[in-house]
Amino acid sequence: MTKNKIWLATGNRNKVKEAAEVLAPYGIRLEHFPLERVEIQADDPADIAIYSLSMVKEDLPICVEDAGVSLDRWGGFPGPYSSYVLERLGNHGILKLMEGESKRKAYYVSVIAYRDTSGVRIFRGVVDGEIAHSIRGAHGFGYDPIFIPSEGDGRTFGEMEDAEKNAISHRARAFRALAEWLTQI
Ligand code: IMP
Repeated sequence: MTKNKIWLATGNRNKVKEAAEVLAPYGIRLEHFPLERVEIQADDPADIAIYSLSMVKEDLPICVEDAGVSLDRWGGFPGPYSSYVLERLGNHGILKLMEGESKRKAYYVSVIAYRDTSGVRIFRGVVDGEIAHSIRGAHGFGYDPIFIPSEGDGRTFGEMEDAEKNAISHRARAFRALAEWLTQI
């Protein structure tokens, strides 16, 4: 059965906005389910998303998304610890630690845990890029002003309009995979 309305449980309205724009062309409306997530510590973001989803008791077609940025130079860190690192260091602190570093490759991962009456399914999206040398742009949120996607023109996600970020972002890719599955069943 095709679902034309699903919920995203999150405390982050930016995520809702981005995901809603991705789902709209599939005829799927996204509703915000306000949730301040309790994040467990785990290496696999899928485990974090599944745990957060289990905290939602409502019987709705609903998903949780867990995202993070991984730096090659730091062996994939912060990954699942991205919120903590951003909170403690901020983008300024990360750039300071990366000063003089030429190995700047990074990638964003988005993992969605989606639940309906048929059970729980996982969808993933990735975007490759690199860490900028300075903070650039006021769009987006989180790490966007220091993340330059490889498929772009050298601008950070923070310098892109929503639609440009959504064309290639980790989140858009994960939500497109979810939408394709939802519209096929
Ligand atoms: P979470 O998915 O809310 O746990 O996100 C982990 C951390 O990554 C938070 O600090 C977010 O601000 C950041 N983050 C998640 N998605 C994005 C994104 O699309 N752009 C920039 N930062 C992000």
